[in-house]
Amino acid sequence: MRVLVLHGPNLNLLGQREPEIYGTLTLAQINAALESLAAELGCSVAFFQSNCEGSLVDAIQGARDTCDAILINPAAYTHTSVALRDALAAVGLPFVEVHLSNVYRREEFRHHSFLAPLALGQISGFGLDSYLLGLRALFNHSEK
Ligand code: DQA
Repeated sequence: MRVLVLHGPNLNLLGQREPEIYGTLTLAQINAALESLAAELGCSVAFFQSNCEGSLVDAIQGARDTCDAILINPAAYTHTSVALRDALAAVGLPFVEVHLSNVYRREEFRHHSFLAPLALGQISGFGLDSYLLGLRALFNHSEK
């Protein structure tokens, strides 16, 4: 199974960005942990981060021919982006939405996701484990 891991806006600043909310791991460390889990499971992972909505749309469209599933932390676009939702609907790949923080314990505007209704599931609040659990969930789903 080939999984595209997508990280949305401001996640390039992980490690420095509001560490009391998002923790101290950098994006490179999160990607490295996903690489090791992928190796253990026997699947492959490719990574892409962008602060631009259109670039994320392009990456989702590009996954149609190259990947079997998507693991996505859409970051702030979770709460705003019809374009990302439409791209995921168009491509039709199974995906899991993850968040480092528990968005339901935070501001009300973070309680709504445009993407989650199309996802296999959403994992929110477990830091790095949100990503690792998301990858495991995609893998287990593909084995069914
Ligand atoms: C986030 C939660 C979002 O509300 C926020 O805009 C982010 C990160 C998370 O991983 O907790 O940038 O997706």
